[in-house]
Amino acid sequence: MVTYLEAELAPVKNTGQIRLYGEEGFEGMRKACRVTAMALDELVGMVRPGVTTNEIDKFVFEFGMDHGAIPATLNYRGYTHSCCTSINHVVCHGIPNDKPLREGEIVNIDVTYVLDGWHGDSSRMYPVGEIKRAAERLLEVTHECLMLGIAAVKPGARMGAIGEAIQKHAEAERCSVVRDFCGHGVGQLFHDAPNVLHYGRADEGIEMRKGMIFTIEPMINLGRPHVKVLSDGWTAVTRDRSLSAQYEHTIGVTDDGCEIFTLSPKGLDRPGLPD
Ligand code: MF3
Ligand code: CO
Ligand code: CO
Repeated sequence: MVTYLEAELAPVKNTGQIRLYGEEGFEGMRKACRVTAMALDELVGMVRPGVTTNEIDKFVFEFGMDHGAIPATLNYRGYTHSCCTSINHVVCHGIPNDKPLREGEIVNIDVTYVLDGWHGDSSRMYPVGEIKRAAERLLEVTHECLMLGIAAVKPGARMGAIGEAIQKHAEAERCSVVRDFCGHGVGQLFHDAPNVLHYGRADEGIEMRKGMIFTIEPMINLGRPHVKVLSDGWTAVTRDRSLSAQYEHTIGVTDDGCEIFTLSPKGLDRPGLPD
């Protein structure tokens, strides 16, 4: 049996219960998520051939410092960077390094800042220079999947409605949904209940309630859905080495739908794609 509890009255640890946040929580999340979205906006001008992912990581750290925010990934379960940078067939959790980005690559940059105890978690895909049509199509489909999942959020609907919307679209476009990673409750904790699956059926999962805050972050592959984690313990790649893409928003459930906390202030939610 799943239980829901008022976040203000609950201990700040993952008890498996679903925390329901009030206006104070929503306001905290708006602020944290705005810093995250602003950093992702700045990166649009920075991602180009020759730039290293370590340079991107350094920017993410310093941008956070300048805005009173700390990267949540720093020292998280032994992770030592300020963001994840996942290139081409890397599905997620790519570790920044000193290799320059190359023309034609696609890179996901995933940033989570903690501001006043609130976690803003979001990622976008960035084309490096000109990319192939197949890669561009994958980015379009993946962003559409995210927004279709978000459109399924409203009180009374089940979490499975999110997964169904995403899976239907991805598979209609002859892409596949990664099963090994999911979205998550977020707020005063980085990774909280519930898990948010990006596949499934609308009649499955717990009921959404006003005040829930979670991420939706579908990983969509051009080839098969299967992944493996490299020996560094983090980097997840497609087994068939097909291209993979991901976009992530943090959202809060409202009376009649949801509020997207991590929307780009500059309208750059899908860098490099036509409007
Ligand atoms: N930001 C990722 C997410 O969307 C989590 C990264 S954890 C790390 O949940 F340790 F790999 F950075
Ligand atoms: Co997340
Ligand atoms: Co993230």
